[in-house]
Amino acid sequence: MTEFAPVDPTSTDAWSQLAGIAEGFSPDLREWFATDPGRAGRYTFQAGDLTVDLSKNLLTDEILAQLLQLAQDVDVPGRFSAMISGEHINVTEDRAVLHTALRRPKDGVGLVPPAGFVVDGADIDADVHATLDKVYAFADKVRSGAWTGISGKAIKTVVNIGIGGSDLGPVMVYEALKPYVQAGLECRFVSNIDPTDVYEKTANLDPETTLFIVASKTFGTLETLTNARLAREWLWNQLLASGAIADTDAARSDAVAKHFVAVSTALDKVAAFGIDPENAFGFWDWVGGRFSIDAAIGTSVVVAIGPDNWRAFLSGFHTVDEHMRTAPLEQNVPVLMGLLNVWYSNFLKAQSHAVLPYAQYLHRFPAYLQQLTMESNGKSVRWDGTPVTTDTGEIFWGEPGTNGQHAFYQLIHQGTRLVPADFIAVANPAHPLKDETGDGAAVEPGQDVHGLFMANFFAQTKALAFGKTAAEVRAEGTDESVVPARSFSGNRPTTSILAPALTPSVVGQLIALYEHIVFTEGTIWGIDSFDQWGVELGKQLALQVAPAVDGDADALAAQDSSTKALISKYLELRN
Ligand code: F6P
Repeated sequence: MTEFAPVDPTSTDAWSQLAGIAEGFSPDLREWFATDPGRAGRYTFQAGDLTVDLSKNLLTDEILAQLLQLAQDVDVPGRFSAMISGEHINVTEDRAVLHTALRRPKDGVGLVPPAGFVVDGADIDADVHATLDKVYAFADKVRSGAWTGISGKAIKTVVNIGIGGSDLGPVMVYEALKPYVQAGLECRFVSNIDPTDVYEKTANLDPETTLFIVASKTFGTLETLTNARLAREWLWNQLLASGAIADTDAARSDAVAKHFVAVSTALDKVAAFGIDPENAFGFWDWVGGRFSIDAAIGTSVVVAIGPDNWRAFLSGFHTVDEHMRTAPLEQNVPVLMGLLNVWYSNFLKAQSHAVLPYAQYLHRFPAYLQQLTMESNGKSVRWDGTPVTTDTGEIFWGEPGTNGQHAFYQLIHQGTRLVPADFIAVANPAHPLKDETGDGAAVEPGQDVHGLFMANFFAQTKALAFGKTAAEVRAEGTDESVVPARSFSGNRPTTSILAPALTPSVVGQLIALYEHIVFTEGTIWGIDSFDQWGVELGKQLALQVAPAVDGDADALAAQDSSTKALISKYLELRN
């Protein structure tokens, strides 16, 4: 068990100072920029390839100083150091939290803790690299066509079956790195227990060239195990129907051996499902599900993009891990962003946080961040079991720009709620296209479309920061009756994150950035960001309710009146 007791952040002097500043706080980004030419430069930071401009936030030097003091008071650096060295900072599960160990380079040069460190009797680096080597060898076999299905054909489609961290990470990274996917290979992702998911994802697939990866840390998740059985049934039925296998148990198990592999910490359960443990890739209980994309859970993506790109992806994480470990707090990007989120949530009472990638390939990034941030920090008790002393967690949401501009940005620009937003973009798109004809008016012939896209990014952050005063609206000759509706208050905070291109390394850097933002906030709030007890009750009740839905009268009678009526209506509506 960790020796750290949580500091109550609200008992610190920094907290009182921040509360004092927040009282009657009247931000004025126009004024701040006009009177301080150094503002953008002073508040722009670098973490690896990520340039992060915090200057359009509701931040002053005074606020920043108090936030940094708060980080010191709760000892963010000390707890990070405890985490990366394997202390059991996941207190409620009495586990180490070592996702940072998943991306420590194999050469071991300059590592802290030094290469070969042992936690709970295990040589962490040796275990990590042995598994990575096994995943790489497997990926190479699939990619080269050496791994064949039951009828000797190479694999064309990899279907990852998992949910939560065993789905959101792989699908997000696969989508983000589409340009790196080997030609002729495709990945699909089945997660939902709604049977339409497995139906649609297997539709029009050739079973002889399809490989399923059952990804589940526990190998006990209802959705994943049910979908894995449905997929196995689909495989057998298709192969039997085409005559590719005989109707024997031996043929069936041979088909599973050639078309199913697994990723799990529970290799005994993998074997019980019928998957050869030789075709299973392990990981460890010190990797949380939502922190597991860089463990073997990413196997589908390693197959798709190849080991070299995966190594670059891992090195991106490590770059930001090192930044988090070594950068002074006042230049430490994840710490600064985490502190800003605390400022907005606890002092300015923001209820949610938007993440707006101006990179279509990052279209699943907001969904990925929802699990990372909300499963980690949506807690009401601290790691010693006492109630939290302030609001925790942030509601993360978002969609890629510019799509969001035509949907929900209205509320961010002119609504009554404060919604801090992270804008994320890259300078070099994978597909630089030009609008050769233009429209003869706003868009010149030959316009670089990515430039037009980025003009929207810059324009939105400007509009949010500086708004448009009533006087400016009037000066355009606007009828007085609509001046209020057409004015923009400004002072709507944004963080701008720019990277050179959406490379494997940059995607790794972005994920690590948000992992450590989550860590920073959780440390300030004194919560265990690495457990997820809040998902258990619903899982238990689903199993209790299932017999009632299946027509068991006693089980139905045992339900509360609302649930009973709903299930009865459902049964009545069923054909
Ligand atoms: O229900 C929540 C959760 O436990 C997540 O934390 C996890 O990522 C997901 O379920 C899937 O779990 P598993 O990988 O064990 O199937």
